[in-house]
Amino acid sequence: MYTETISYNKAGKFEETRFEKIHNVIFNSSDEASILVAREIADLIIKKDIEDELCVLGLATGSSPIRVYEELVRIHKEEGLSFNNVITFNLDEYYPMDKSNIQSYHHFMHDHLFNHIDILPENIHIPDGKIDVKDLHQYCVDYEMKIKEFGGLDFQLLGIGRTGHIGFNEPGSHHNSGTRSITLDHITRVDAAPAFLGIENVPRKAITMGIGTVMSAKRIVLLAWGNNKAEIIKNTIEGEITPEVPATYLQNHNNTTFVIDNSAALELTRVKTPWLVKACHWREKLKLKAVVWLSEKTNKPILKLIDKDYNDNGMSGLLANEGSAYDLNIKMFNKLQHTITGWPGGKPNADDANRPERSLPQIKRVLIFSPHPDDDVISMGGTVDRLVEQGNEVHIAYQTSGNIAVSDAEVLKFAEVSKAINPNHESDSIINYIKQKTESERDSSEVRKLKGLIRRSESYAATRYLGVRDCNIHFLDLPFYETGTIKKNKLSKDDLDIMCSIIEAVKPHQIYAAGDLADPHGTHKVCLDVLFEALEMLKTKDYMDDCWVWLYRGAWHEWETYEIDMAIPLSPSQVMKKRHAIFYHQSQKDDVMFQGNDNREFWVRAEDRNRYTAKKYNNLGLAEYEAIEAFKKYIF
Ligand code: F6R
Repeated sequence: MYTETISYNKAGKFEETRFEKIHNVIFNSSDEASILVAREIADLIIKKDIEDELCVLGLATGSSPIRVYEELVRIHKEEGLSFNNVITFNLDEYYPMDKSNIQSYHHFMHDHLFNHIDILPENIHIPDGKIDVKDLHQYCVDYEMKIKEFGGLDFQLLGIGRTGHIGFNEPGSHHNSGTRSITLDHITRVDAAPAFLGIENVPRKAITMGIGTVMSAKRIVLLAWGNNKAEIIKNTIEGEITPEVPATYLQNHNNTTFVIDNSAALELTRVKTPWLVKACHWREKLKLKAVVWLSEKTNKPILKLIDKDYNDNGMSGLLANEGSAYDLNIKMFNKLQHTITGWPGGKPNADDANRPERSLPQIKRVLIFSPHPDDDVISMGGTVDRLVEQGNEVHIAYQTSGNIAVSDAEVLKFAEVSKAINPNHESDSIINYIKQKTESERDSSEVRKLKGLIRRSESYAATRYLGVRDCNIHFLDLPFYETGTIKKNKLSKDDLDIMCSIIEAVKPHQIYAAGDLADPHGTHKVCLDVLFEALEMLKTKDYMDDCWVWLYRGAWHEWETYEIDMAIPLSPSQVMKKRHAIFYHQSQKDDVMFQGNDNREFWVRAEDRNRYTAKKYNNLGLAEYEAIEAFKKYIF
């Protein structure tokens, strides 16, 4: 278990972690990690109980600790863990904020934890977002005092913001700050915007425990999951201590562990460039990763790298294995060259030994899964165009309705047109509803239905433009998504059945799906999880022997060059065609509701990214293309 590795880590293993100033453990999945953290908390509660002591927990909100709370609830229900001796102090609360508001941290904590365990209500402490301004200062001093009166925090659970905040201690926070009111950083408000249905609704202030408060905890565990956290995790663990990244203060705490998943660890030196910290076991993918990195670092195409470049950059071991830079360069160059094809469905009558796809069957049944109704064209519009043009039978299955991303103004527009053509009760009721709707209210089912229909008609427009037949367009409306809010349901058997049915019906030779795990609201990840479950269920079927799975990345980020297994070049006119296909998704243009942390519209992001991939290939010494769409093969 990771707590036991602390001493090991500090004493030995120095080579691998010599860039790191905070103990951390990397897990394959956030699920597995959360279960271990919950176990550490449960063990502490039990130990304190045996010693007849109170257990004082500092708790966090946000997406990171949700699974830990779920597991604590399970341990309570199934193993009888009691929270009778537990006192909790939450890190923070928005200000001003009413307890009853579903966006309040008060609501979050009760929803995820307190309502399901036997903690005494008087033992729960969450900053009060409704405290009068004139009493605020004293309130914060009292909060701090109360923690001290209970003997301080035995355990503090933390998440980390992209600004490097812990609690809401934004950049600039002092190392010995106490509980206080603060102004939220713009990036933090952008990240919170989806939950508040727009940045304008996100409070500007919050009450937070201070850095000093957090640092006084006897034990600290910080959780971070996903690519979005990779950069700040590296800066926090490897950077200098600075108020600009408040989490770096944790370098001075002697019992802190960062519990992170593979994606959040991606930028750590030992993960990103392991050859700089230790002798490596050189698998093929690692060789390619290292050579691409070296070429980018030295600004030289692969075929111009020389022995000295390898030796100067920690790769002499690799060179020794491979003989010479000359041989290794050619091998890696060819590997990349073989990822490029203008025939995503395989080239008929061609030798396919060095091509990413098989040449047979000549006409392939292709099933493209798109999490939202537009990820298909954003991520692989050019490839769809080629697949259709080259005679393949292309199906597109939209996994969710995408209804929450349609603005009320758009709904009003369509309802008013409908009413003008044919005055009817439904249109009237939708128009009245939208006009009276209060901020952050959940849409009625008829409004959600219209929002979904708007996205459907946009999808038909885009796919017709690319030549896909209407009868091959499938709207799955997976039930997990249909909550009308950002918070989605858990995957159920119904979701899985729907996925299995469409795969059964098409019996595809190729499946394309979004392997885009940085989607800020998690929908892409859930859509991928349910596909993986479906593949697992169906893998014994005969037709699945012929089915290959290709993962694209959606609007949020791209595969690293070394990860790409199939690169589809786009000509300038294909880039324009793709752009127009994206334009058909008008409800997602101009004023996008769920944009994440990137201000560019989706078509701009897609184009920039596809051009960037082409540029990277070109810089490595491969041919110069206008743009490239990239895919990674998934083996199941
Ligand atoms: C929450 C808190 C914040 C979050 C951080 C990460 O109580 O104080 O510091 O831990 O913003 O949020 P998630 O986990 O949503 O990425």
